[in-house]
Amino acid sequence: MKNLILAIESSCDDSSIAIINKNTYECIFYKKISQENEHNQYGGVVPELAARLHTQALPQILDQCKKYFDQLCAISVTNEPGLSVSLIGGVAMAKMLAVSLNLPLIAINHLKGHIYSLFLEQSIKLDMGVLLVSGGHTMVLFVNNEGKISELIRTSDDSFGESFDKVAKMMNLGYPGGAIIENLAKQAKNNSLEFSTPLLHSKELSYSFSGLKNQVRLEILKQELSKERQCEIANAFQKTAIAHIMDKLSKIFKEYKFKRFGVVGGASANLSLREQIENLCKIYECELLLAPLEYCSDNALMIARAACEAYEKQEFVDICEDLINPKVQNLQGKL
Ligand code: KG4
Ligand code: ZN
Repeated sequence: MKNLILAIESSCDDSSIAIINKNTYECIFYKKISQENEHNQYGGVVPELAARLHTQALPQILDQCKKYFDQLCAISVTNEPGLSVSLIGGVAMAKMLAVSLNLPLIAINHLKGHIYSLFLEQSIKLDMGVLLVSGGHTMVLFVNNEGKISELIRTSDDSFGESFDKVAKMMNLGYPGGAIIENLAKQAKNNSLEFSTPLLHSKELSYSFSGLKNQVRLEILKQELSKERQCEIANAFQKTAIAHIMDKLSKIFKEYKFKRFGVVGGASANLSLREQIENLCKIYECELLLAPLEYCSDNALMIARAACEAYEKQEFVDICEDLINPKVQNLQGKL
């Protein structure tokens, strides 16, 4: 019986392949090779290096999937958004597999993939609100009963995760900054440092993290950075970044009275953010949906899960099409 879908994810700095059963959503194979160590010394992702590492890692993972080839019914791949030089590696491999195994090809939007990380081994539940917090995006969405997506809030500059990366870079702490900053924040002994919350007195429903980043930069310049001071700055920054997310989110909750609310993207692994959204959901008696911590950051399993729905709707793409769309910022259409 041919009922397995193979999915490839290579939109940024993670090379990942997953195989899923399209009927039961059971994960048959999953592997991810992260490039974090290689990019760490540069304080961010170096696109040319990422592209080169994908060309090593993807074939290495694919080699372990060969035994499932005769059970596959489709190939799927992340085609947007992301670094174009990274996307190309996955898309080229997916096209090659689709041609050589004579299988249909499915292109998946990475952001939709993150939303499916909430439903990895279960049927999708709608309607719902979603906070997407990753390295490239920060947005609040509403997905209605029919799966139609509308955007309620977005960031006008940096993303939530990216601001953690930049703060870590300013203090020479390595990449990615999310877990590093969260960890330092926990160790802070002195809580007196405060930054001002962006757009606190503005009615505008949008996010902005660049001003906060600048407040941190000026604070770093004030005096030498001891470990204690790094913890203090990390703590004050994280507190303010989350306060900004929560300030706008509580306004949206008041208006939308969500039945359920999901938090997705790499930065949804932040425990302090999770805890505060959990409290907000309790106040509004709203069901909270979270992805397992392992699948918050980029992974091919969420792409495979999204591809199950696309397969059902026969949403196949032409192999000759240029599928790559690196800069897509908004998430429209249906889930
Ligand atoms: O979804 P993801 O893996 O990649 C993109 O699609 O961008 O998200 C990666 C981002 C990075 O910016 C990383 O620093 C951030 O998620 N991140 C965190 C945490 N863990 C990862 N940000 C805040 N707190 C964390 N614990
Ligand atoms: Zn992502």
